[in-house]
Amino acid sequence: MSNILILLTALGTVWGWPSLRVPDSGGRIVGGHDADIKDYPYQLALLLYNQHYCGAVIVAPKWALTAAHCVDHGLYSTLAVRAGSSSKSSGGQVVRVANVTMHPLYNISTANYDFAVLELAESITAEDAAAIPLPEANTPVEEGQVAVVTGWGTLTYQGTTPEILQVVEVPVVGTESCRRSYGSLLTESMFCAGLEEGGKDACQGDSGGPIAIDGHLAGLVSWGSICAYPNRPGVYADVAYVMEWILEQIDETQVGPQPAPELALEPELDSKPESKPEPEPGSISNFKLHF
Ligand SMILES: *[C@@H]1O[C@H](CO)[C@@H](O)[C@H](O)[C@H]1NC(C)=O
Ligand SMILES: *[C@@H]1O[C@H](CO)[C@@H](O)[C@H](O)[C@H]1NC(C)=O
Repeated sequence: MSNILILLTALGTVWGWPSLRVPDSGGRIVGGHDADIKDYPYQLALLLYNQHYCGAVIVAPKWALTAAHCVDHGLYSTLAVRAGSSSKSSGGQVVRVANVTMHPLYNISTANYDFAVLELAESITAEDAAAIPLPEANTPVEEGQVAVVTGWGTLTYQGTTPEILQVVEVPVVGTESCRRSYGSLLTESMFCAGLEEGGKDACQGDSGGPIAIDGHLAGLVSWGSICAYPNRPGVYADVAYVMEWILEQIDETQVGPQPAPELALEPELDSKPESKPEPEPGSISNFKLHF
């Protein structure tokens, strides 16, 4: 346990941005408000040693998605999810995570392909829990679409986390415009959302949770520079971009009205690292992963 705390503290230090500070925006998630899980029944709290540290999203009774950077610590036997509760530390149903599969192209330095599939030890049956409809494969999000982000992440950059789920709406930012903020750190497996003037964003602890458009899952909270900073939109892992891989991982009979995927033999991800290597200099870790 103490090793874990040391590890997490070390990761927090590595992933923070030591040289930049922004004034507190005074908002929630950042800039959002309290939410009722009944309105976002797909939201999960991802628990490590029974503590919320990331978000996740229900895609089928026994399957969830989260960000790979939330689970690349390899501490799988200590993972669980809390479903069907607006509160991050009580209520709803807690289910152990039975298996974790990170995307085989996930890059720990760049957060490229920041996707992981969680197989749960039992089905989620909580009253206020439900799977989110998935997007069609390879259907890109469009600039200006209004997206809904939920989570229990910090209310300000390096601030405190709320007990009650937060929600915020942010518009999708076009790729070219987002490239002006992040250059080549922005890859094909990512999209951006946020306000030019800042003030609304996901933040640390929201990672792995959903960003939804028209009630469908569009992405997973991944990273950004600071939180809610002008011209530094939040960056999300683009779920439609890897839908085929996701459907290959999960038992598709559980997913509902998705077109049946072509089953292909994918190379399995074999590495389940014991600990996290130091990020390379000049890598994404100079920015803030929304861990
Ligand atoms: C976990 O998932 C991997 C890859 O999807 C699979 O090869 C493995 O058999 C699974 N392990 C268990 C215990 O289900
Ligand atoms: C991760 O991305 C960096 C930067 O593009 C690259 O140099 C490195 O080889 C990649 N690592 C893996 C394991 O693909």
